[in-house]
Amino acid sequence: MHFTEIKETADTYFMPTYAHFPVALEHGENATYFDSEGKAYIDFTAGIGVNALGTNDEGWKTAVKAQLDKLQHTSNLYYNETVAKAAKAICEKSGFPKVLFCNSGAEANECAIKLARKYSFDKYGEGRYNIVSLKNSFHGRTMATITATGQDHYHEFFTPFLEGFRYAEAGDCKALEDMLDGTVCAVMLEVIQGEGGVLETPQEFIEFVRTVCDENDVLLIFDEVQTGVGRTGKLFAYETVGVKPDILTTAKGIGGGLPMGACLCRAELGNTLTAGTHGTTFGGNPVACAGALAVLERLDDAFLAEVSVKGEYIREKVKAFTDVESVRGRGLMIGIDLKTKKAGEIAKKCCENGLLILTAKSALRMLPPLTITYEEIDKGLLILERVLSE
Ligand SMILES: Cc1ncc(COP(=O)(O)O)c(C=O)c1O
Repeated sequence: MHFTEIKETADTYFMPTYAHFPVALEHGENATYFDSEGKAYIDFTAGIGVNALGTNDEGWKTAVKAQLDKLQHTSNLYYNETVAKAAKAICEKSGFPKVLFCNSGAEANECAIKLARKYSFDKYGEGRYNIVSLKNSFHGRTMATITATGQDHYHEFFTPFLEGFRYAEAGDCKALEDMLDGTVCAVMLEVIQGEGGVLETPQEFIEFVRTVCDENDVLLIFDEVQTGVGRTGKLFAYETVGVKPDILTTAKGIGGGLPMGACLCRAELGNTLTAGTHGTTFGGNPVACAGALAVLERLDDAFLAEVSVKGEYIREKVKAFTDVESVRGRGLMIGIDLKTKKAGEIAKKCCENGLLILTAKSALRMLPPLTITYEEIDKGLLILERVLSE
């Protein structure tokens, strides 16, 4: 099909929940995509932080195809070697001894919320169910996770939202401490708020939260759906701040492009969710797990160090571009504030000129594949530089 036909078909049948760029992507190699008309694009998006190993990665495809040749799905009623190996790999590499696999970031956060509430219920009984999350956070689109999301515009239309969520300002230690009034079971935060604009949660605040959580036996949840799986130059961003949460959620890059999420926790919490209290039909699907194993095997120390170097390389170059106010982020999670131009307009023009780039609130955002080459980076930056100087 040509683009017009693809667009017309999609627009006829899709619920209009996305403002699409006028492009139909067809195939690609690493961080270079081609559309239905054969035009090339440099990819600074990785499908919003998903294609950790880029597209068409030989090792990843071989692993996924090998699993497809055996069994595509088993349900969680039976054991499977690939799924067991993926669980071992993520637990050993992340530093958390227990995992629950699911299919998305929102589901991983749903699991974290249920786990925190049940842990508290088992230990203290009823009434200690509140979760504190941060203003400007983003935790997903399900009813619980939009409730946890600390942005007012997500809290329209879908009333009633869930009971038991409170919102603290990142950096306001006193406000957060005041909220821990004996009815709170967990604090949930992103080390870097991704959808909120690529904003780092202040280090001292994260350390403070860890301390008050310990003092009050409140669980600390890090939502690493976007920051996890090598994105910040460490396997998980908690390593960059030196503060370990009790529960860590991740998704996006973990399956290398297949739908997958994971909720990890420390040993003491590991047997809280028991048979019948939580579950998922698709979660821990063997094909997704084969993809995850390939991703996790690739992300060794040398690979992760290179993610940091590439990120620095991009940040240094972008700083000098016309209209750039500031550049921030870690590893290959990059936010750019512009002085006068609108990020959305720039993203549109970049797309017209062969660069796929994201926005996050008023910032431009880059989440390229972790395997992006310097040649691809330079090509993409050249397009961005030109667009910004127009
Ligand atoms: C930090 C964070 N949490 C949760 C989510 C939701 O993930 P998903 O869209 O896979 O449900 C996202 C998605 O952007 C995210 O960035």
